[in-house]
Amino acid sequence: MTSGTRARAILLAAGQGKRMNSSLPKVLHEVLGRTILARVLAALDGLALEHLHIVVGFGAAPVRQFLDANPPRTPWSVHLQEPQLGTGHAVMQVAPALSSFQGTLLTTVGDTPLLTTETLRSLLARHRETEATVSLLTTQVDDSRSYGRIVRDRQGQVTRIVEDKDATEEERQIKEINPAIYCLSWPEVKGGLAGLSKDNRQGEYYLTDLIGWAVNERLPVASSLAPDWREVSGINSRLELAEANRLLKERVIARLALECGVTIVDPQSTWIAPEVSLGRDSVVYPGCYLVGQVEIGESCSIGPHTVMYGPVRVGKSSTVTQSLITNSTIGSGCRVGPFAHLRERAELSDQVRVGNFVEVKASQIGDHTNASHLSYVGDATIGAGANIGAGTITANYDHIAKTKARTIIGDGSSTGSNSVLVAPVVLGKDVVVAAGSVVTRDVPDGALAVGRARQEIKPGWTQAKRRKLER
Ligand code: UD1
Ligand code: CA
Repeated sequence: MTSGTRARAILLAAGQGKRMNSSLPKVLHEVLGRTILARVLAALDGLALEHLHIVVGFGAAPVRQFLDANPPRTPWSVHLQEPQLGTGHAVMQVAPALSSFQGTLLTTVGDTPLLTTETLRSLLARHRETEATVSLLTTQVDDSRSYGRIVRDRQGQVTRIVEDKDATEEERQIKEINPAIYCLSWPEVKGGLAGLSKDNRQGEYYLTDLIGWAVNERLPVASSLAPDWREVSGINSRLELAEANRLLKERVIARLALECGVTIVDPQSTWIAPEVSLGRDSVVYPGCYLVGQVEIGESCSIGPHTVMYGPVRVGKSSTVTQSLITNSTIGSGCRVGPFAHLRERAELSDQVRVGNFVEVKASQIGDHTNASHLSYVGDATIGAGANIGAGTITANYDHIAKTKARTIIGDGSSTGSNSVLVAPVVLGKDVVVAAGSVVTRDVPDGALAVGRARQEIKPGWTQAKRRKLER
């Protein structure tokens, strides 16, 4: 490979993000159910580069832990920056690992959750075309906030970047800013990096000073204007985090509505992550929050006010109303809610009904089975065509032993209202449990189980009681 085609990426993720005012490193904050870091990694993975160098520092342990649990697809390594003396200093930490590398270093910050692979790819392409030593993205903003400003000369050539804190009043008026996404030619920039000084208001080694260095050295500098500032803008505060959530969901909702044939009744109150897919003619009603790997089939009706945390799968033509669904599967033609709670691998087959105030945890429910009202179904396997009566409870937990046990209910069985099934217990097929029973022993196929106090009748008791009181 020639140096022109080799490329690696450097991801700067060592900063604390002071303005977040958080014990969590900034890159581990979430945007629509996924960390900022994971979103940036996904954009980088799309480029299929030869290596990814990730610089960590503040909160290195949780960031490493996160990376181990959610590794990027690109071969990667972590580089510790301790203490954190600025973005230039962060890149210096990678230099020792680049001794045999010749090519392009795509250098990007870890706090841009909306960044896309396409934007990175076009910067890389421009860097190669222009054979520049340093290429940078720039973008126009209305509110230049705390961004570094792009300073150009009369010919329109970029001459340097000035940080907000170091800028003159005049420079502060500049609306073209630095998103901090660059291509650097290695080893050409090595000297510039080594020569960075921390002679500035923040006492940091600024990576941005590489631009001024390259211009002074008469090395070629290329810039490319990102058309949408929102995509490349970094998150610095909780307000900007909220803004990123909103922008990302707007992007997702536009795609679902325009390309997937999905009706989103009220885009403003609907939150859907990019990881979510919905089939044609599905409708999402107001107040839904759908994040993670959520896969919903065609012609489903979701909401109003439904929350799903993936992984969640829903088949075709199912309805989920005012419910909370986490890590669960719902088949086709099911009706869930209002006020149902499915969690920890609840699996509903087809045509299942789970009604109001029913919680289903780690259970499988067969085709055409109903649990329509006020039940707890935990650690249970229920067959097809069964009916779980109102108020049925699977008593799955032994508080002394701290263990859980399973309840098995065969096809076609029914449990009466307010019955308690004390696990472990097996109910065969076609079993009937009488209302109000406490079932502690297994029930064979076709049997009735009654486990309740026998009713007594005392004729005339009320009148007799009254007379007694009157005396
Ligand atoms: C930086 C840029 C600024 C740009 C802005 C875009 C510099 C000097 N300034 O400023 O021109 O407009 O980003 O958001 O580069 N980081 C480290 N180690 C450090 C410091 C930071 O890894 O010692 C990482 C952070 O984790 C973050 C990124 O670099 O991902 C940017 O850091 P941040 O402190 O947000 O830089 P800004 O002051 O915003
Ligand atoms: Ca920043």
